[in-house]
Amino acid sequence: MTKKLDLLDIQGNIVRAYGRFSYPLARYVFLNIRESASARRFVGALTRQVTSSAEWGDLPHQIKQPDWTVNIAMTYQGLKALEVPRSSLMGFAPEFVMGMKARRDILGDDGPSSPVYWDPIWQDHHTSRDKDVHLFVSINARSPLLLEKAYAWLQNMVKEFQIGVCILGGHRGPDGVLLDYQDGCVLLEEGVPCAKEHFGYTDGIGDPVFEGAPRYDLKVNGRGKQMEDGSWQALATGEFLLGHIDEAKEYPNAPLPILLSRNGSYMVYRKLHENVATFDRYLEEQALVFSREKKLEMDAARELLAAKMVGRWRDNGAPLVHAPDPSSKVEFDAKLAEAAPAERDQLLSGFTYDEDMSGARCPFSSHIRRINPRASLEMVKGDLPGSMVMNVEAFDTPGALTNRRRILRRGLPYGVVKDRSRDDGEHGIIIMMINADINRQFEFVQQQWINYGNDFQAGSDKEILLGNHSSDERFPSKAVLQVEPDSDDAPFFLNKLPRFVETRGGEYFFVPSLTALRLIAQGLVDPT
Ligand code: HEM
Repeated sequence: MTKKLDLLDIQGNIVRAYGRFSYPLARYVFLNIRESASARRFVGALTRQVTSSAEWGDLPHQIKQPDWTVNIAMTYQGLKALEVPRSSLMGFAPEFVMGMKARRDILGDDGPSSPVYWDPIWQDHHTSRDKDVHLFVSINARSPLLLEKAYAWLQNMVKEFQIGVCILGGHRGPDGVLLDYQDGCVLLEEGVPCAKEHFGYTDGIGDPVFEGAPRYDLKVNGRGKQMEDGSWQALATGEFLLGHIDEAKEYPNAPLPILLSRNGSYMVYRKLHENVATFDRYLEEQALVFSREKKLEMDAARELLAAKMVGRWRDNGAPLVHAPDPSSKVEFDAKLAEAAPAERDQLLSGFTYDEDMSGARCPFSSHIRRINPRASLEMVKGDLPGSMVMNVEAFDTPGALTNRRRILRRGLPYGVVKDRSRDDGEHGIIIMMINADINRQFEFVQQQWINYGNDFQAGSDKEILLGNHSSDERFPSKAVLQVEPDSDDAPFFLNKLPRFVETRGGEYFFVPSLTALRLIAQGLVDPT
């Protein structure tokens, strides 16, 4: 039976990555609460404009797609400042209460990712009551004009409730200028909006599918969970929404009353700077060696190596599992060009690592394999060394462990790269990860799968793209690009990996349902 959710009660950013729904621009605004009653009225006024997850359409009974979207979230301090009752506050997850800065060791935010280098707003956060980030308001718009119109609307609202709230500045913008907001914007390729990020990869392809999300049953292949008979099913709703059964067949821990938490979720906001010069230089240096060793032309070697770092080819996101080398990529591209949209989606997302248990196609330390290993941590097929045979038949669902670590990704790139020979400048991605349990999902992936490699038989090797590789010569980072165990080919070693991505700030937020927003606004949260 198809599961139905109350989409009108769920904020729209939980089910939609707005960038893919013709909103190429975003503005993220953070506010401090000065006075509780007025701030609650502000939340109430904003709630009337909040975009829900309801489907859009042009028929008279349907909700029309808006010109811009509005969503709200709160930090733990924000909920406190809004006077949510103490016994409800006590039900929130400890990592959410502590906040991202306090979790920096778990997240590996060290060296150039340390909070001392974060944007001023995030450095100041938690230093005094009047600098604390309490509220998050995000706007996504269809055009620059509409973005400014929406922001003017928000500014007016803030002015109207100025006793209660104020906008916090301190976001580094172009040329280091401090701004009152963080903008996000899709990148342009020859003037045309595209799905690329600053390293040149096509992004935004794989997003988990869960029960009850609009038309979820049509998109499960490669996005849901792998079943024993080879079919795919949608993930349990409770992995992404509080108040619903999760993959352990339990309700995720959530604050009471249930009306406060049900249909809400947690959001991890991170501003990630991309060192484009370091990336280009490292890729070029390694591609020279790779081209010699693999007897490939330099251009082919560079693109294959870039694909090995992420698990997908840069130009169109073709997965290495389907297109492991330049010649199979040509065949894959021909199929992709002919494919109808549903088939296209299937070609890009519908794959497993079952036929690549050695990592010869998609390396164990590549971005997508580390972040979503699918069933490859447990499903063992073929002859592999004894140590790799683990957890076989331990679960009815082959990827049971991975299914508890899935994350919805939202956000957009920010900034423009003015000079690719320099790392400085303001460019990267704003990533927002939505999950029902920040510790079990986002933090686990960040700590155990990105910055450590044990689950992948990779010792302490980190994930190539995001790992917090050290510049200290005593602790060089490496990654191995595997080959088939019985081939004459030798594995390729990416040595002395530099840090490609640095954290510039962020925080953990609670994304309430529309019902919860109304309760909070009216001061009616009753935990008894
Ligand atoms: C600058 C930072 C980052 C860049 C450039 C980046 C880039 C990419 C690219 C190119 C893909 C492949 C396209 C796709 O499958 O959508 C991808 C996939 C993905 N990324 Fe990232 N990413 C970054 C940070 C992160 C972070 C911090 C997380 C979470 C901890 C994350 C989670 C994911 C997930 C879950 C997938 C889909 C994997 C799958 O299901 O196969 N990414 N990313």
